[in-house]
Amino acid sequence: EKGGHDYFMLKEIEEQPEALANTLRGHFDGGRIVLDEQRMADQDLRDVDKVFVVACGTAYHSGLIAKYAIEHWTRLPVEVELASEFRYRDPVLDRDTLVVAISQSGETADTLEAVRHAREQKARVLAICNTNGAQIPRESDAVLYTHAGPEVGVAATKTFLAQIAANFLVGLALAQARGTKYPDEVAREFAELEATPAAVQKVLSTVEHMRTLARDVADSKAVLFLGRHVGFPVALEGALKLKELAYMHAEGFAAGELKHGPIALIESGLPVVVVMPSPKGRAVLHAKLVSNISEIQARGARTIVIAEEGDDTVRPFADELVEVPAVPTLLQPLVSSVPLQVLAAEIARTRGYDVDKPRNLAKSVTVE
Ligand code: M6R
Repeated sequence: EKGGHDYFMLKEIEEQPEALANTLRGHFDGGRIVLDEQRMADQDLRDVDKVFVVACGTAYHSGLIAKYAIEHWTRLPVEVELASEFRYRDPVLDRDTLVVAISQSGETADTLEAVRHAREQKARVLAICNTNGAQIPRESDAVLYTHAGPEVGVAATKTFLAQIAANFLVGLALAQARGTKYPDEVAREFAELEATPAAVQKVLSTVEHMRTLARDVADSKAVLFLGRHVGFPVALEGALKLKELAYMHAEGFAAGELKHGPIALIESGLPVVVVMPSPKGRAVLHAKLVSNISEIQARGARTIVIAEEGDDTVRPFADELVEVPAVPTLLQPLVSSVPLQVLAAEIARTRGYDVDKPRNLAKSVTVE
């Protein structure tokens, strides 16, 4: 049942192309994005003047990625917040606020309470969920199911990629309804999304490399993760995976913050994973990251660089180079997250831990 693997998580990592395709299936029809499971009229989407994304853990990281896409495509302000913070604040919401509640299980207590809190203030709530009929979609105005299939591993993998894709569908539906993108632009963005399962399939060829690398870094006392733009949430997610599975100290940073503190942590032999943007898509950010890497390498860090295929400028600064296929900038998390999932799982396995059932954690957090 583990598809020949030692643990479910690796099977689920390998199912990601299919999970992504299933999430996207049926949502582009007659030249338009259709959120057919969504009980929300085009008019409702047109009236939205602000978006809040609320979620926990990995789902929250998918929300951070959504912010870059939704703001870019729709020019709507997007705030992304941990459900456990949102529900105890006094956020400014009204009937033109769209609250997107992201939850794989659909049962996370804090996210559910955030939904209730938002609805009490008349905001409209759209749930993004992987579990049919769960409590969060039941209490929301509308739901977009991810169709990633059941996830057994406590660590979210295929549902994370599916959430990212679902968030993009919401962003494109908003852009379409508000007219901030022409129909042919929406069609082009959707076509790019549809090409990502094949790109993710290609990234799976890095599994062996990550396995060897995992054995090399399994004894480190900490691992740092750096990224910029959409690579920043990817860095946060890479660090979360490592904490939860390998019980190692791991931190994700926005690379631009390095000089504001974290660089003091760099010491000889410390593994630092760097998520590079595309040299073509985001040339300025790319150059800045190259300079960040050279600084940490000069201080003795062991650099593990996730970069676009053919990115030669970064090669001299990468002690380990992990190449991922070129995809448009906003979609990069779909490919760059995958090697980090494998790295965390394989470090955990090397250290002798149960990859599918990490200590102290439950698949669905129904207590607060
Ligand atoms: O079911 P949910 O998506 O609401 O769960 C949220 C988090 O508990 C979850 O993503 C958690 O962080 C994962 N174990 C991470 O791998």
